[in-house]
Amino acid sequence: MSTWEGVAEAYRRSFATLCAGAIPTLLAATATGGDHLDVGCGSGDLALAAAREGRRVLAVDPDPGMVAMTRAAVPEAVRVVAGAAPTLPLPDGSFGAVTANFVVNHVPDPRATLRDLARVAAPSAPVAMTIWPSVPGPHLAAYAEASRAAGAVPTPSTRLPDHLDFPRSAEGLAGLAQESGLRVEQAEEIGWTWRISADDLMAGIAGGVGGAGSTHRAQSAAVRTEIESRVRELWSRFAAVDGGLAFPVTAVLLVASRP
Ligand SMILES: C[S@@+](CC[C@H](N)C(=O)[O-])C[C@H]1O[C@@H](n2cnc3c(N)ncnc32)[C@H](O)[C@@H]1O
Repeated sequence: MSTWEGVAEAYRRSFATLCAGAIPTLLAATATGGDHLDVGCGSGDLALAAAREGRRVLAVDPDPGMVAMTRAAVPEAVRVVAGAAPTLPLPDGSFGAVTANFVVNHVPDPRATLRDLARVAAPSAPVAMTIWPSVPGPHLAAYAEASRAAGAVPTPSTRLPDHLDFPRSAEGLAGLAQESGLRVEQAEEIGWTWRISADDLMAGIAGGVGGAGSTHRAQSAAVRTEIESRVRELWSRFAAVDGGLAFPVTAVLLVASRP
């Protein structure tokens, strides 16, 4: 079972709003015109934002639930197809801009994935992406602390074997891009404040999204209840005046181009 199978609705309610924080930066980095390809479109926020800017957009995701959700979110003119890097079902050199928002940190072969993104980009087209750095954000650090304190059973590591992995940093992603034949234009950390309610964030984790979601689902009901009570307490340190949570988050941005 893929990590993303059956979690599209829980993702849309929770972590999609986190990932959406990078969309303005990615759109600004790819504002060169031409057909726009969004790889790993998830629930469709980036594809929708690009279409609203008047771009001709193709959105791709391997998960049928994500494909259906993006289709429901975007105007009819946006094409949404099933497909996965590094075997995108798309011709070489066919897109004027390519984005992959928090996708390269979830693929089984990041180098091959970047080669595939480079392959489908037109000459000189921008290829812009984000990943999470190795240090987890405060929302996940709190979850890890709560699950340890609640005696959660650890789940198997999802780390890639060394020969496929890369350092989850601006330098690491830039190195990966160079190895994959891309010309690096910009590689840096970007940050923003993520606002979400504790209920929506908990719904994402209880709904099985990401590593925390997998851990949560693997626990007994009693341990899940204990984790939830502890993590809500830890998250409350990030309470905002409106009653929701406000987390400072940091991502790695890479803007490259196909030579
Ligand atoms: C963290 S979500 C990001 C979704 C979206 N880009 C966003 O910003 O909300 C990761 C997405 O990558 C997709 N994905 C996983 N493996 C992939 C692959 N090999 N190629 C393309 N997309 C993939 C997942 O199905 C999921 O929708």
